[in-house]
Amino acid sequence: MAKTNLPFNRVLLKISGEVLMGQQEFGLESKTVQRIARDVKEAVDLGVQVCIAVGAGNIFRGVSGAADGMDRTTADHMGMLGIVINALCLQNALENLGVDTRVQSGIQMNQICEPYIRRKAIRHMDKGRVVIFAAGTGNPYFTSDTAAALRASEMNCDAIIKGTKVDGIYDKDPMKHKDAVKFDRLSYMDVLTKDLKVMDATAISLARENNIPIMVFSIKEEGGFKHAVQKQGKFTIVDNG
Ligand code: GTP
Repeated sequence: MAKTNLPFNRVLLKISGEVLMGQQEFGLESKTVQRIARDVKEAVDLGVQVCIAVGAGNIFRGVSGAADGMDRTTADHMGMLGIVINALCLQNALENLGVDTRVQSGIQMNQICEPYIRRKAIRHMDKGRVVIFAAGTGNPYFTSDTAAALRASEMNCDAIIKGTKVDGIYDKDPMKHKDAVKFDRLSYMDVLTKDLKVMDATAISLARENNIPIMVFSIKEEGGFKHAVQKQGKFTIVDNG
């Protein structure tokens, strides 16, 4: 991997599906997707290798009525297909900006995108391409956060950078509580024992085992990702302390 003078050479950006719906109640808001693509391009232009894992809450909300009472495996399969929709949309937005992008899916759908192949994904990133991981781990019962931590571990990423609606991790929901206090730094154990809902416990444990720091920043802030990959701006970092 080519070395940069930046704190992280290779990062995985985790974006929730909800972020992609912008002001809408579900689906994809094109101006938000385009803005996030611009933010990713800024980080790529700095020389950082970027891969992306996305969720599907924005698609799943639109079908949640139908998913009521459905068995978990089927509902999770629907969620994984939702991730593929989000991944293709992000790929299109990035390629419109001239950023080479490859989508690799954890479930084979060769007519639509590449299958997930670890060594090929690493090669793409070495060539400066953004790799978007679709369809989660390819298995039900695993969240998109766990898929993000798994792929970040497989890709030897230097950090998982999680873009959320708020600028870090707080002791309680800052959207609901004005007196919520933000943490600058936490250990993986703090997150698990305080049940801080940064990522699910499986994802946190994977990051901990593989010693990959998790940075939480606000993806709603334009240019926030470029700052996050340089360890600048507002964020909370989770590591071994
Ligand atoms: P290099 O080997 O580094 O040149 O990478 P590359 O991705 O440019 O080469 P490759 O020939 O593997 O891919 C060319 C194009 O086909 C790229 O846009 C890939 O994303 C796409 N591609 C490769 N494999 C598959 C696949 O199994 N399914 C789909 N749908 N597209 C694929």
